[in-house]
Amino acid sequence: MITCSAPGKVYLFGEHAVVYGEPAVCCAVDIRTRVSVAPADSVIISSSLGTTGIDFETHPYVSAVVERFRELSSLKGVSIRIVSEIPVGSGLGSSAAVTIATIKALDALLETGLELDEIARMGHEVEQRIQGAASPTDTYVCTMGGVVMIPQRKKLELIDCGIVIGNTNIFSSTKELVSNVAELNESFPDVIGPVLSSIGKMSLVGEGSVNSKDYVSVGKLMNINQGLLDAIGVGCSELSSFTYAARNNGAYGAKITGAGGGGCMVAIAPRERVGDVADAIASAGGDVVVTEATDIGVREESR
Ligand code: MEV
Repeated sequence: MITCSAPGKVYLFGEHAVVYGEPAVCCAVDIRTRVSVAPADSVIISSSLGTTGIDFETHPYVSAVVERFRELSSLKGVSIRIVSEIPVGSGLGSSAAVTIATIKALDALLETGLELDEIARMGHEVEQRIQGAASPTDTYVCTMGGVVMIPQRKKLELIDCGIVIGNTNIFSSTKELVSNVAELNESFPDVIGPVLSSIGKMSLVGEGSVNSKDYVSVGKLMNINQGLLDAIGVGCSELSSFTYAARNNGAYGAKITGAGGGGCMVAIAPRERVGDVADAIASAGGDVVVTEATDIGVREESR
């Protein structure tokens, strides 16, 4: 049996604006999805969602990866087991992580010799097939790990402080939120255009602050980014309440991560204040994940 894992991710800056070609800064976080594969007579996929064969309802991403490997190799049967620490559908990159970890595990089992770039590209193709449209951000960051500026694919210094995630557990559709922003932009291009380009500038200014480990400035920029995300209509009262709870209890800064409208927020904080920030978000009603940035992208864990 071969086990591979891939990390989740948060956006420090730039979600939504990245859809318009603006830069974004994403950070892989140390919550991982593990995928174990072993030879079998037929395809068996098991996870907390159940045990299936190729099944695009229950296991769409893994099913698409298996079909892709059937085109590349003589693969007929395989047993695939998924265990994930990444909450599903919360904007933390759970679908990218399961896709990328499965690609790496099948690559190792079938000895197809894929390079990391090819794994990221295949992962993006699978996400596009399943979601209709997807930016390459999640699959790239989760393959490479670390802090990455997109679309430049430039690695920045690893974030060296606490990261606290607050999950609203409110489902939000990325597709719907992206299309709401597009509508707003069509109605008020002279207003929304500059907001999106300001978010892009935040990533460029933030790059310097991340690289010099100036987390006070990174936090201030995250707070400004949050204001602009609210301005383009992707906030909600729970996300606002968690971000204020985090800021009022020692975080350097806090903002939505991902599409917004529900899902998760992220705060960065000095390590000695992580407990206070986590308690404050939990008291405001959030499910809390305390984590750290990780430089480790997809990797083989055991065989
Ligand atoms: C969603 O996680 C991030 C968005 O920028 C959409 C995308 O980049 O595909 C809202």
